[in-house]
Order: sequence, then C-alpha cells, then structure tokens
Amino acid sequence: MTAINSVTDLSLDGEVAVLTINSPPVNALSLAVREGMFEGFKAALAGPAKAVVLICDGRTFIAGADITNLADMMKGPSLDEIQALMDGADRPIVAAIHGTALGGGLEMALCAHFRVAVPSARLGLPEINLGLIPGAGGTQRLPRVLGPESALELITSGKPMGADEALATGLVDELVTEGDLKPAALGFARKVVREGRPRVRVRDREDKIAAFRGKPEVFAAFRKARADKFRGQVAPDWIIECVQAAVEKPFEEGMALEKQRFMQAAMSPQSTARRYYFFAERNAQKPPGVPAETQPRAIRKVGVVGAGTMGGGIAMTFAHIGAPVTIVEMKQEALDRGLSVIRQNYARSRGAKPEEVEAKMGLIQGALDVSALADVDLVIEAVFENIDVKKEVFAKLDKACKADAILASNTSFLSIDEIAKATGRADRVVGLHFFSPANVMPLLEVVRGDKTSPETLVTALDVGKRIKKTTVVSRVGPGFIANRIATTRIQEAEAYLLEGLDPAGVDKLFYDFGFPMGPFAMLDLVGLDVIADPEKQSIRGWMVAAGRRGQKSGGGFYDYEGGAPKPSEAAAQVIANFRKAKGGPAVEASDEEIVERGLYLEVNEGVKELEQGIAARASDIDVALINGFGWPVDKGGPMYHADQVGLAKVVERLKAFEVKYGPRYKPAPLLERLAAEGKKLTG
Ligand code: COA
Repeated sequence: MTAINSVTDLSLDGEVAVLTINSPPVNALSLAVREGMFEGFKAALAGPAKAVVLICDGRTFIAGADITNLADMMKGPSLDEIQALMDGADRPIVAAIHGTALGGGLEMALCAHFRVAVPSARLGLPEINLGLIPGAGGTQRLPRVLGPESALELITSGKPMGADEALATGLVDELVTEGDLKPAALGFARKVVREGRPRVRVRDREDKIAAFRGKPEVFAAFRKARADKFRGQVAPDWIIECVQAAVEKPFEEGMALEKQRFMQAAMSPQSTARRYYFFAERNAQKPPGVPAETQPRAIRKVGVVGAGTMGGGIAMTFAHIGAPVTIVEMKQEALDRGLSVIRQNYARSRGAKPEEVEAKMGLIQGALDVSALADVDLVIEAVFENIDVKKEVFAKLDKACKADAILASNTSFLSIDEIAKATGRADRVVGLHFFSPANVMPLLEVVRGDKTSPETLVTALDVGKRIKKTTVVSRVGPGFIANRIATTRIQEAEAYLLEGLDPAGVDKLFYDFGFPMGPFAMLDLVGLDVIADPEKQSIRGWMVAAGRRGQKSGGGFYDYEGGAPKPSEAAAQVIANFRKAKGGPAVEASDEEIVERGLYLEVNEGVKELEQGIAARASDIDVALINGFGWPVDKGGPMYHADQVGLAKVVERLKAFEVKYGPRYKPAPLLERLAAEGKKLTG
C-alpha cells in the first residue's frame, strides 16, 4: 500500500490497482481528495495493473464537491483534469460505490468504464437543492446512460436513485453483496480483464440520445410541465438547456455550456442562500452547551397519549420508520375514531397497497390506560392544550413509565418547565412540537426545558432525524421559535385589510416574493377557527361568525368551489363590515412596503427571540421558518434575508413604519446595535 497523500492510498492486488479515498465525513472533493485522485490515477495508470478500482473508506462514496469551500475548487487539479486521466485510461476503471455517490461523486463514477454498487447505495445529482447545476459533466454524461428524459428527471428532482433502479437503468453494471464491496469490485475488475470486455467511455455513447436529436419539443414539454414547481429558480432552466445540448451538440460543446452555467449558478444569490441553508440545517442539530461526546439513547418503542389529529399524525411518523407505537386514549370511542382516521390516511396515500396499510396499522396499538406504556422508551403527549390537564397526564406517566423513559409534550405554547414539575424526572422531559399535519410537515421543534439533560436533548434530535423531520431547538417561551414569528406576519394581514387592501392582492405579493401562498390563503388552509381568538374580535373571528372557517368549510377569505381559491364576494362583505366597525383609514403603501412590513416584523421578532435566548442562533430561526411556514429557501429565511438587505436598512424601514403604523414596528435593541456596528445576524 502506498500513501498518495493524507487522504488517498494506492495498492496493488494481483493485477488490479485499488485507489482508496479516505476523507471523512463524506469524502467530498476537497483539494486533498482531488490531488490524491489525480496523482493516484497517474500512478495506477503508469504501473503494472491491468485494471483500476476506485473505492472510498468510511460511510460513503464521494458525496460531491466540498461545499464548505467551493472557491477552493479553483485550486489544485480540477475535476476536468482528473476526468481527462480517466477518459484517457488505457485499461478499465471500475467505480465501487457504497453510501451515496452524489454530485461530483457520481460525475467521477460516470468517467469510470464500469460501476458496481452495494444494494443500499444511492446515486444522484442533487446540485439543484443547492441552487447549482452539475458542473463536472453530469448533464452531458448522465443522458448518455439513462436517456435525456430520465436524466432530466433525476437531475431536476435532486433525488438520488436506489441501487436496484440504477442496475435496471444501466447506471450501474452489477450489484454486489452488502459489506463485500472491495473483494466484489476486485472480482468484477478481474472478470472484465479476463473477458476482455470493451472499455466504452460514457462520453462516446450515442445509443440513448440519438433518438432525441432534433426534438426540441421533448425539452419544451418537460419545461412546461414543471413551470410551477420551478417557479423563481434559475438552476432548472439551465439544467434543461444543458441536457438538450448533450443531445444536440458535440460533447465538448455541451461541457463548455455546462461549465458556463455552473459558474453562473454558483454565483447566484439563490445558490448562496441554499448553501447557507444546508449548513444551517446541520448546525441546528448541534445545540450549544451539549458536550460533544453526548450519545443519544436507543428509542425502540414509543407511546403517544391522545388519538386526536396530532396524536394520530405523530403515531404515523413512527410507524413510517417501523417503530411500534402504543396510542392511549381515555375513551374507547375516541380511540376507535383516532385509529380509524389513521387507517383512512394510510389508505388514501398514493399507491398504498392493502397489505402495506395492514403492516403499518399492525405497528400501532390502542390502549385505554397509561399502564400500557410501562415498557416504552419515549412517550409523546398530545392532549388538550391546558396546563392542568397536561400536568395530570405527566404525573400519571411518571408513575407508569420505566424510570429512564423520556416524557415529551407536543404542546405548542405551554411551558415545558411547568409540565416537568409534575414529574420526578425533569431531566428526561422535553418538548416535541410537531406541526400539523404531523405526518406531513417537515419541522419538529425540540423544546429544551431548564432541566432537560443533554442526553435527553440529543436523543430527541436523533429521534427527529430518524422520523425524517428537520429539527430545531427552542427554549421555553410562548409560541417557541416558529409560531411566534409567523404570527406577527399573519396578524399584520388584518392591518392590511383595515387599510383597505384585499386578500388576493396581498397574497399575490407574498407569493411573488416566493412563499407557496400568502397569509390569507394560509389562514384558509389552516382553518380560521384554529388560531386562538378568544374575544372573536379579529377578522378571523368575524369570518368564523359568518360561517367562513376556511377551506374546510368551503370558504374563508376565498371561495373554494371546485377546489381552487377564487375571490369571494361574501368575504369582501365581511371585510367591508369589519372595516366599517373598526374604522381603519385608507393608507398609501407601495407593494414593496406591504411586503417589507410583513417580513421585517418577522425579522424583528426573531431578533427578540435571540435577545431572550429562545433561539440559540439566527440560522436556527431560518431553518424553523423555512420548514414550518414555507419561507422560500432561495431567500435563506428571514434572518439571512435581513442580512442580505442590510440590517441598517431594515432598522431604517422599521423606524419609518413605527412612525407611520404604530409601535409594533419598534426595532429590537439587539437589531439596532448590530446594525450600528455593521454586523450581521447570521455571522
Ligand atoms: N461538502 C462538504 N461537507 C459536506 C458535504 C459536502 N458536499 N456533504 C455533507 N457534508 C458534511 C455535513 O456538513 C456534515 O458535517 P458535520 O458533521 O460537521 O455537520 C457531515 O458532512 C455529514 O453530513 P450529514 O448530512 O449530517 O450526514 P448524512 O449521513 O445525513 O448525509 C449526505 C450524508 C452526503 C447524503 C448529505 O450530507 C448530503 O446530501 N450532502 C450534500 C451532497 C451534495 O449536495 N453534493 C453535491 C454538491 S455540489
């Protein structure tokens, strides 16, 4: 074995050279990895071996460019230079894939003559998720293997393909036994040599693309069918353009176009925002004050208290990952109803087979007493939002559950510290705040009480990752991180109406900013009676009184006959009456100002959360709002967006709004200070 450099080894196993990369955590194409591959391939191709296997140590094959430092890609050997070595090789190269071959990783594998993979491997070009396009030939080589339509699907979805599908589509040549990758890849390489199999370079292949030449309508149709999905994004259009070039133009020309578009994408504000978000999401898993060596406890069996909408949805998230769940309700009737709703939800999901529904339901047991939770590792309480009720439930759970079980509450605004006092294990009490519907919404706020132990916190984060939620840690405070911030913009919706604006006009402005829907459409979706309004004095209260509870009642701020929202005369009448009673004067405000008001209120509230320590970092707030309230990831979230606008400008606007609209716009002291110091929220 020869060390090529600190992250690459070359060894000879009989007639096969093995180039091994070992650069944790994910063997990204850092400067060292590229140097190692360049020198390693040169040495292997100059040596006696008749074939070369490229393989990675650790958890995965190369997972792409090193996005911690994209600018570094300009230094040292480029991917082009390494690929030129591979393309020019006079003997077969075999890529041996485990884990995830993503982005530049798959692009390097596509320069090998053969690919073998273990069944758990996944292969994809997820650059679009980072606002990028593949930049090392992915748009040129993948269509030559899969055909342009499948390639477009894979690249624009950003979702990796499983090994089985990769085998079926010819992206990999052979599946090998899990855990046996290296010997199997060596065996495969020897077979290739023995059989004298032709070394076909992907770049030279014509078979999958020839039939699409001179057919621009294929690409136009693809673009049109996804126009809504790709709204506002720059990368998808460039991907389609490049794949079309792969079909229409010589390889080198297609590569040149891809390079140019990659550079443009990399410089775009969208990509910068998305890369910021990528690391923000991962940093959110590392709350401050938790020793690095803290290990999560194993959570095998789960209990849920309450079989209502939330409890049922939560149970489903665990059944999805194959964990047995026991749901406890007080009355048989409520339990039966809850279980039957879960069954209906499963049966309604797309492509659900009866046996799969039964398998999922088999994981969910009902019970009428918390004594059924004696052996669970984690309980999530999802009962009525009343502190006395919750305390009673927690006192019972404390007695019924084993001593080391974690007791979690799904409360959306009550104090975890108060709830924990009802138990003798405050260190093992935590909040797990799911968003409705719990089995669909990606955000999970993990609420850290004063006494929650690091182990409990880390376990909660680990559970969140296992059930495929995006987790953010919040301290105890009304509305935690996300609801508290989003409420400010939603409340402002009422002010817009009082000033004489109409729901559709306001919604369009926020939609155009990048939200999936504006505040009124969102209220209709959630239900106007869901958000607390005890005095019924808000426009929501007036709408509910007029029988307009939102989409579920056929109408709210919009009418929903036939499904799609349409402006509503009945709603306009309620709004007119409301305005008359509340007496709002008409206000002159530009479209820009209307949007700024909503967004900067959120920014200001976020800064207050930082001041109060509710959120540990500005980036945690962004992760929460993107996943909980559809904040456009292309804008990076409210705090990142404020940094891009410039905090001085945000403060200046808030002060102007304070004068014009009232004290709710008063900038938070921390925001003023950071702005004065020329600092940023997101570091
Ligand atoms: N460059 C640099 N660092 C990367 C990286 C990349 N392309 N991909 C992942 N990492 C880092 C993460 O930041 C994380 O670091 P941390 O432990 O310091 O927080 C670590 O690798 C593990 O990543 P994580 O996502 O937590 O692990 P996972 O096992 O859940 O997922 C991947 C692994 C590879 C599937 C996932 O990280 C991923 O999708 N990466 C991006 C791949 C990509 O987009 N490639 C194309 C780039 S152009």
